Amino acid sequence: MQSLSLTQLPAWSTFTQAVQQATPDLEQLCLIDAAGLSVDFSGQRQSPALQQAAAELLEQRHFQEQRKLLLSGGIANPTEHRAAWHNLLRAPAATADVMHERERLNTFVRDADLARRWRHIVHIGIGGSDWGVRLSVGAFGYTKLWREVRFVANIDGHAIEAGLADLNPHDTLVVVASKSFTTAETLQNGQRALEWLQAAGVKNPFDQVVAITAHPERAAEWGVAPRHIFKLWDWVGGRFSLWSSVGLTTALSVSSDVVAGMHSGAAAMDHHFETAPIESNAPVQMALHGIANRSVLGIASLNIAPYDSRLIHLVPYIQQLEMESLGKSVDIAGNPVPVPTGPVVWGMPGTDAQHTFFQWLHQGSDGAAVDFIMCQQADHRWKNHHQSLLANCLAQREAMLRGKTVEQAYEECIKQGHTPKESEWLAKHRVHQGGRPNTLIVLPRLTPYHLGALLALYEHKVFVQAVIWGINPFDQWGVEYGKHLASDIIDEFNDQPCVKAHDVSTSHWINLLKKQL
Ligand code: F6P
Repeated sequence: MQSLSLTQLPAWSTFTQAVQQATPDLEQLCLIDAAGLSVDFSGQRQSPALQQAAAELLEQRHFQEQRKLLLSGGIANPTEHRAAWHNLLRAPAATADVMHERERLNTFVRDADLARRWRHIVHIGIGGSDWGVRLSVGAFGYTKLWREVRFVANIDGHAIEAGLADLNPHDTLVVVASKSFTTAETLQNGQRALEWLQAAGVKNPFDQVVAITAHPERAAEWGVAPRHIFKLWDWVGGRFSLWSSVGLTTALSVSSDVVAGMHSGAAAMDHHFETAPIESNAPVQMALHGIANRSVLGIASLNIAPYDSRLIHLVPYIQQLEMESLGKSVDIAGNPVPVPTGPVVWGMPGTDAQHTFFQWLHQGSDGAAVDFIMCQQADHRWKNHHQSLLANCLAQREAMLRGKTVEQAYEECIKQGHTPKESEWLAKHRVHQGGRPNTLIVLPRLTPYHLGALLALYEHKVFVQAVIWGINPFDQWGVEYGKHLASDIIDEFNDQPCVKAHDVSTSHWINLLKKQL
């Protein structure tokens, strides 16, 4: 357990001073190669003093020991007293039960492919049981899928209605993914799907339902046959379950090779994280720059800008990973963390993002740190599209970094034919502050291997930040609280006595809605 709060560590004040004194050096290329990715930190503050202070900070936070604990399956999640051993799920040689489950999944997919079974898949799950699969299916099945996949996450009945609409129930596999097998959204949507199969006269509906859970007994009680239950383990955090059998939908719709490729890339990043020295360790450096931006420079948000439209679901994936993990304000000992922790994470693929909110990034009063992500090679044949895409990515980044002074803007206006008086006025509107911190992550190509490496890069970055802030990144008590309140309100809608006093507004709406629900 971390005993000292962050600001009590001698290295914290050295680190903050070093951050304040450092600047991004536009003449210094600062690249780290990690598991096939190239991570360019040239847009972040750099200095030898900063590196030195960062190394001391990590040392004073016992980073080496914490990393070892994480990667070897020790109790990295103390408030729930369990490991967070997702790296084992993608290890080339994992434990016998992990290998066994992988093999079961591959066999299931092989048999279904050989039999040309299931033209449609309805994947039901939410949060970590959803985003990773959506991301990988979107990334690698973006043109055409032999099996049509629908995702249903939201408890909103319109979601399941749309998810089932016009599918052939006799050729549909329903995949219910829930680590806990208690998540209201997933269970209710699963029930609707089951009723839909029954209503269509499917003789044995459970032949068409697969469950993925850490609680096989709950899935079995619901009616799923043991041969259709794939196991994950208590030591896999919900937001890391992409690496478990939750990947079944990806394997069925795109291929098992995609799942295996993502595992290899993530395992390579695990190896890099475990072995690379601090100064050339990409997740560690990313974490340190993130801490500098958030806790020292006070930058409250991190924008994720993937310049690849196939990565449409990367932003929500990283949002859950970062915000569910780092949205905490007490440390493991229960004391308030004395500095701001996890930033707001937001974004959208470029170039759409440029035409939506980049104005705010360039000239708004707050600014944000930005992670630009691009792939060197495209997988389509239109070279000029890819050139334009990458040019836009580099240009936006350069503008944020370099900025534009009032003198430059004035010259520009004069050259465009404006009078000196007009130019003086217009120039003020065209100034770009510049110096917005950013990181550029370059994938050679969007392969499963490189996407796996990218996701593991963010996972480890989040872990290192949690170590420095002294918080537990593996629980989510805030989400749990809301779930309990919702279940009490549902009881009240159903005329159960009110167990808790509400505020006036909540009571008003419960009473009003109760009459019409
Ligand atoms: O949002 C809270 C959470 O517990 C996430 O951590 C998880 O990914 C999601 O709910 C779904 O949980 P489960 O897989 O147990 O249904």
